[in-house]
Amino acid sequence: MKPLAWEFIRSAATKSSMTQFLKDHWEFWRQFRQRFETTGAVAPSSRFLAKAMTGPMARRDRPGRILEIGPGTGAVTQRIVRLLRPEDRFDLVELNETFAGLLRERFATDPNYRAVADRSQVHVCPIQEFTATEPYDILISGLPLNNFPAELVQSIFETYFKLLAPGGTLSYFEYMYVRPLRKLVANKDEKTRLNELDRIANNYLSKHRINRSWVFVNIPPAWVQHLQKP
Ligand SMILES: C[S@@+](CC[C@H](N)C(=O)[O-])C[C@H]1O[C@@H](n2cnc3c(N)ncnc32)[C@H](O)[C@@H]1O
Repeated sequence: MKPLAWEFIRSAATKSSMTQFLKDHWEFWRQFRQRFETTGAVAPSSRFLAKAMTGPMARRDRPGRILEIGPGTGAVTQRIVRLLRPEDRFDLVELNETFAGLLRERFATDPNYRAVADRSQVHVCPIQEFTATEPYDILISGLPLNNFPAELVQSIFETYFKLLAPGGTLSYFEYMYVRPLRKLVANKDEKTRLNELDRIANNYLSKHRINRSWVFVNIPPAWVQHLQKP
């Protein structure tokens, strides 16, 4: 059996989880059509991608402050809430009010979310405008950086590193080979933007990358880049 079909069947194992799975995919698709640039994908991440994104969080040896950026319909959040410990703090920053509303409802109704609701908060704003009282140990970001102007990507990377505590980790995903593939069909301005994104990302990756995970069971397949602040 194909893994994606298997994931669908697993999610559809009970009537309520099937309804949730379909509702999330439908809402994601609707938002993709209305706000393509910031939604950046046609479907939520698979649970294989969610597992790779939360690798550093699952392996840590002490409680900490966790920040999820661009949670969308909660494909990665649902794994984060299961990994949270009693002493952890969990913040979510989401630009899209519809997604934020959906997540707040989940913190009020879903048992796994309710269990951690007292130490979690959904913030509705762009990450580049978010300010925190204390830095975070774990950043997990689902932002579609490859859709953004180069200046915005530069400011988002600066924000990530400003929000991270020393020794803290940033995990973010990007679809495999997306920039080289886009360059094949890009016009001159778009090529310049993509080259600039390569330069910005490579600058951070060359200094701070600790690991890269390959996730083939996702639409489309993705890499998770794991970076650490010195
Ligand atoms: C590709 S989706 C990822 C959703 C989810 N994490 C997943 O993996 O299925 C990108 C998400 O980032 C949000 N987003 C885009 N730009 C943002 C920004 N500047 N600040 C915060 N969230 C943003 C979008 O609204 C959307 O929910």
